[in-house]
Amino acid sequence: MEIMGRGLRQIIQETPCYVHLFSKFAAYKLFNKHSPLYGSADIINVCNLHCEHCYWWLNRKENDELTVEQWQKVIDEKFKKNHVFIITLVGGEPTLRPDVIELFVKQFPKRISIVTNGTLPLKRIKNLYFYWISIDGTQKIHDKIRGEGTWERTRKNILDYVNNNGEKAWKDIWITMTINSLNYKTVKDVIDEWYDYSNKIGFQFHTPFMKNDPLWFPFGPERTKVVDDIIDMKDKYDDDYIINPTYQLELMKRNWGGKGTIPIDCPTWAILSVDHMGREKRPCCIGSAEKESMKPICEECGLGCYSVLVGYGIKG
Ligand SMILES: C[S@@+](CC[C@H](N)C(=O)[O-])C[C@H]1O[C@@H](n2cnc3c(N)ncnc32)[C@H](O)[C@@H]1O
Ligand code: SF4
Ligand code: SF4
Repeated sequence: MEIMGRGLRQIIQETPCYVHLFSKFAAYKLFNKHSPLYGSADIINVCNLHCEHCYWWLNRKENDELTVEQWQKVIDEKFKKNHVFIITLVGGEPTLRPDVIELFVKQFPKRISIVTNGTLPLKRIKNLYFYWISIDGTQKIHDKIRGEGTWERTRKNILDYVNNNGEKAWKDIWITMTINSLNYKTVKDVIDEWYDYSNKIGFQFHTPFMKNDPLWFPFGPERTKVVDDIIDMKDKYDDDYIINPTYQLELMKRNWGGKGTIPIDCPTWAILSVDHMGREKRPCCIGSAEKESMKPICEECGLGCYSVLVGYGIKG
């Protein structure tokens, strides 16, 4: 038996984590107390790609990164102190900081996922929860968004990982696709292409930082149809391969997050997000720690990690 890639033995071992999660949820429901449930950390200030849709480059500044010792301090003072359950390592491209990955996985065994472009060889890491690998369409469209030759490199690295690390290695590969105006027609093909090599697939929608962003896939009949098609496909692919719950997908048809750049229903407090300097990002994991930064447009938000919580009744 597995729930979200977690076996029964592991779930039993993690009982204290679930107690914390439950008490936080109860404190929220009973007293409206806000304490973060999850975490995200941009462990690096470098990326080997410059993707067309990427929020990270919009606010990136040339400055230092933290050492492993400094990350230990962030872990203790932010993530451990707040008893966050799962932490997602992001960037930039996080696989370029294997030293920091090693630290996080050691501190949070089976509770770290890494979001990666997969263009560098994927290492088997003992006690990693899983890799989220970003695939943004079929080959031609993915390469248009992420750069020539990236799809082929990522595909090779995934296949090498799955073929060289034992019969259960495919379980470590979860695909994430950010749907936008360029790639929305490729959703079904992406599922078909990756089903045999991955454990799960998750969808989210492009979140713009400016009005009239050509990559934003506007609310309306076309977007609604894409969402309805994904909902239909959930039944066709077994083992909960498509990870988004239906209630979350329904939210993706409209504004669920806020007004302008202000989050309203979005539970920004639920995910403690730090940048490459360990500073807390606002309003959310795609925001910035710096006041004068560009801001995401909440009323056009398509992010998966917050909308899924809204579906559970956890709001701003
Ligand atoms: C910023 S990247 C960092 C990790 C890694 N470099 C990668 O590409 O997977 C994290 C995720 O955010 C997604 N992303 C980038 N810009 C986005 C945007 N404007 N709206 C929604 N998701 C976005 C990427 O496709 C990727 O899956
Ligand atoms: S690889 Fe990731 S961080 Fe780098 S530009 Fe692309 S989406 Fe952004
Ligand atoms: S996740 Fe929340 S705060 Fe961030 S852009 Fe979306 S609605 Fe706004």
